[in-house]
Amino acid sequence: MSASNSPKTPLKAAPSGALTGTVRVPGDKSISHRALMLGALCVGETRVSGLLEGEDVLATAAAVNAMGARAERTGDGTWRVIGCGVGGLSEPESVIDMGNAGTGVRLMMGVVAGHDMTVTFTGDASLCRRPMGRVTAPLEKMGAKFTGREGGLLPMTVKGAAEPLPIEYALPMASAQVKSAVLLAGLNAPGVTTVVEAQPTRDHTENMLRWFGAEVVVQDTARGRRVSLIGRPELVARDVAVPADISSAAFPLVAALLVPGSDVTLKDVGLNPLRAGILTTLREMGAEIEVVNAREEAGEPVADLRVTAGILKGITVPAERAPSMIDEYPILAVAAALARGDTRMEGLEELRVKESDRLAAMARGLSDAGVTVEEGRDYLVVKGSGGKPPRGGCTVAVDLDHRIAMAFLVLGLVTEQPVTIDDGDAMATSFPGFAEMMRGLGANIQ
Ligand code: S3P
Repeated sequence: MSASNSPKTPLKAAPSGALTGTVRVPGDKSISHRALMLGALCVGETRVSGLLEGEDVLATAAAVNAMGARAERTGDGTWRVIGCGVGGLSEPESVIDMGNAGTGVRLMMGVVAGHDMTVTFTGDASLCRRPMGRVTAPLEKMGAKFTGREGGLLPMTVKGAAEPLPIEYALPMASAQVKSAVLLAGLNAPGVTTVVEAQPTRDHTENMLRWFGAEVVVQDTARGRRVSLIGRPELVARDVAVPADISSAAFPLVAALLVPGSDVTLKDVGLNPLRAGILTTLREMGAEIEVVNAREEAGEPVADLRVTAGILKGITVPAERAPSMIDEYPILAVAAALARGDTRMEGLEELRVKESDRLAAMARGLSDAGVTVEEGRDYLVVKGSGGKPPRGGCTVAVDLDHRIAMAFLVLGLVTEQPVTIDDGDAMATSFPGFAEMMRGLGANIQ
């Protein structure tokens, strides 16, 4: 894992000719985590194909293995998970290191909260500065107990509840991780666990719970989207095909939009409507993105995307769209830097608590590259160049954030002078092989 004390591998992106080709980016990170966790709570054997074999997901595989399930690799992206049934995991013998994985640790805390066992979680320097109070607050109401560092930070010990209580919880922030942690704890609670979200967030947990046979009821109410899970279902193992991650596809997609003459096809991209806000946004900016071969796999919509280069125009991206594209703002900010006019992105407060403070990181990196930006508490305005290459010529500190790394490598393909990132290893979190894949399309990344 990209530990802060190991030597870093810098990477440099330089102006490139047209990008062309067809690629499949790695599997969806959110769905991969859930496939391993829910597979571990099923009765029987789940075969997963297209699993993201990035460091975050491998940390989840190790965690469920340490708790008595068996998740093992059977081939390229194909895994077998032999589950212990709902409530059937057992206490691990040592500390669980979740590396850089926010989703991994927060969802696993939910799983552990519904088991009569004690587990200590830790992570890398990035994960150890991220807030865990958002999951510990509802999980405490369900009967779990937490002891962590000052401020609710990892390392943290979870004492799960022998008899978890079903609760109704209104999310104080738009977070699929918090929603999922509560639902996963609710799996082993007798009765109905309900989460109400004012702003809908990605529903992969709900979809996959249903896929494995749980009863999940979703209602639109005046308070928002109300998700109820009937506790103690028998989850029955079933195969899962993981689509390519739209959050990873967004990087070559924007690169193809920005590098003149490009024509790139991205295969099997998951297009869950609660994830696809980036497509709506880029289309409003004038992007040519064709959706081909639309279909459904394991309860999730999937299609191929064909993208051709063109000049984009600046727009205002409304706050209510943020949950459906929360991980795509770094690369959107790069697209905005080349657009005609200003792009204003609103409702970005959650970006401050991602793998790094992404709002600050984008504002700093773009301005170092000669792009004019305005950073607010919860918004970012990027002044577009209208297609003229920004200056570039800077080195960006990645600060253990994979998406900051990839966003600035894409920027370096269209600047006057190369852009360097100080830590290429960070990308292994979600997109192992990013530089190689981009080089295969024609990108000049060394
Ligand atoms: C995720 C939810 C989002 C997202 C993260 C993955 C998930 O986090 O940023 O990369 O799989 O549930 P929040 O729940 O903090 O918004």
